[in-house]
Amino acid sequence: MGFQLEDKYFNFDNYNIVIFGGNSGFGLEILKAFSRYNNKIIIVGRDQKKINKALKEVKKINKNKKIISLKANLTNEKTVKTLFNKFKTKKINKIDILINCIGINKRNNIENLSFQDWQEVININLNISFLISKYSLNFLKKSNKARMINFTSIFSTVSFEGRTPYASSKGGLLLLTKTLALEWAKYNITVNSISPGPFLTELNLPVLNNKKNYREFCKNIPMGRFGNPEEIITSVMFLSSARSTYVTGSNIMVDGGWTSK
Ligand SMILES: NC(=O)c1ccc[n+]([C@@H]2O[C@H](COP(=O)([O-])OP(=O)(O)OC[C@H]3O[C@@H](n4cnc5c(N)ncnc54)[C@H](OP(=O)(O)O)[C@@H]3O)[C@@H](O)[C@H]2O)c1
Repeated sequence: MGFQLEDKYFNFDNYNIVIFGGNSGFGLEILKAFSRYNNKIIIVGRDQKKINKALKEVKKINKNKKIISLKANLTNEKTVKTLFNKFKTKKINKIDILINCIGINKRNNIENLSFQDWQEVININLNISFLISKYSLNFLKKSNKARMINFTSIFSTVSFEGRTPYASSKGGLLLLTKTLALEWAKYNITVNSISPGPFLTELNLPVLNNKKNYREFCKNIPMGRFGNPEEIITSVMFLSSARSTYVTGSNIMVDGGWTSK
């Protein structure tokens, strides 16, 4: 009985799912989770080697699973537009779940950051998210259970020294999410965000590779440790579920308690 209930609420068979950043970190974990179902998944990433590695990981879980992978370095409107045009050539006209896991970080105090550093982070984390949203709308509208999930961060609501561009971009992304939730409610498209605390992914290598920095970070985490990428999956499944029809404009903190202090 318990299993049937779970199956009904969290079944992603016959879905079209697009994962921006699906070749790495959270995106890869999400790809592995959704690959267990009979669906169509597109992943987008920059690094072909990481894409190939991600596809191998999927085969370990579901050996017959075919994933559509698109290599793209999204930096401006033209690159995003070109990417969405490619969806059509792959016979993807509808998106049921769109996960936006793209992100970069440049850590330094403002006196040591160039304006170019600032612009790069704002561009990838915020401008590209705007463009992904804009160009995905017509695809999402065709679904009767459309979900968009943006990866913000705890730094969308609190901050830390050396995070001016990152925190500013994630604060912006949080409000982009909420505004789209308002605009797209009339289409029954839900738009939510997940705000992770520090996790063991590539993005955090500069912190993980510096023992002093790592210890400093752990002091802020009530659970006293970084999260494992697989600990994000339950939140993604909850927001992605066809039954999560009335959850929109929400932000789930998955941060080991950091922002509750
Ligand atoms: N890890 C954490 O502790 C943490 C905490 C809070 C929020 N987040 C957020 O969660 C999201 C995923 O982070 P992660 O930890 O999984 O990091 P990650 O492993 O570094 O993944 C980032 C992804 O973004 C892609 N990407 C970056 N710039 C791109 C571009 N210009 N065009 C296309 N793809 C691009 C990367 O592709 P390539 O690998 O091919 O370059 C990669 O797939 C990010 O938005 C991040 O800010 C992470």
